[in-house]
Amino acid sequence: MKKIIFVLLAVSSLFCFSCGKKEKVVKMGTNAAFPPFEWIEGKDVVGFDITLSELIAKDYGQKLKVVDMSFDGLIAALQAGSVDFIASGMTATDERRKSVDFSEPYYSSKQTIIVRADDKTVSAVSDLKKKTVGVQAGTTGEIYVTEDVEGADVKSFKTVIDAALALKNGAIDAIVVDELPAKEIVKRNPELKIVDDDFFTDEYAIAVKKGNPELLASINKTIATIKANGVYQKMLESYMPLEGEAKILKAEDLR
Ligand code: ARG
Repeated sequence: MKKIIFVLLAVSSLFCFSCGKKEKVVKMGTNAAFPPFEWIEGKDVVGFDITLSELIAKDYGQKLKVVDMSFDGLIAALQAGSVDFIASGMTATDERRKSVDFSEPYYSSKQTIIVRADDKTVSAVSDLKKKTVGVQAGTTGEIYVTEDVEGADVKSFKTVIDAALALKNGAIDAIVVDELPAKEIVKRNPELKIVDDDFFTDEYAIAVKKGNPELLASINKTIATIKANGVYQKMLESYMPLEGEAKILKAEDLR
């Protein structure tokens, strides 16, 4: 009997030994309803931020796991440790800096307005007063419209895709959202159009839990490297082509 227990223990310790040697996993949190930065294609989460995260994970020497969740839950998930970083077209704001660390910025965006193509009443953000405006919950667009567009009736949605449906149905009058997702939504819904008015800019950065300088430094190094070696440019050309469809890149195609 003793012998059997000993053998069992020896075998299980062998197993644990190989467990320890398994490649470590770095978990990235995102909200995959924000093309071209992240969206769902078949059963995969793809997009600019996913390619960036694959490169980040590779440089950090770990395997990437993408966790898709609601945008307004991302920071809490990071703080709770269920993800290690956020790559979700997230704007580095001072308010968010109180609870997370941000990498160097990797993309400059601005907010735009989407309305129905036949709408003649909205040509600037000031026309959103007294309108019902859809935004994604937890975003800078939501904060902006709530705080700065006096008299607007703000309706928050889980994703901008949901907001676009409501706009098509006539349940809301407009959407305020980041520029490139707005362009993608309009491309897929010709009954909608973009109203371009410069009213708010966003700098996207990767968020890391406070007190993780090693991962933060590694992410900053990846961003600096790809900007210097042409990979970043290639990513822009694939995901944000001036014409035609976005092309999905794999990290292994890039180095
Ligand atoms: N840039 C905006 C923000 O940080 C919107 C980002 C939404 N991203 C997403 N993957 N849904 O608040």
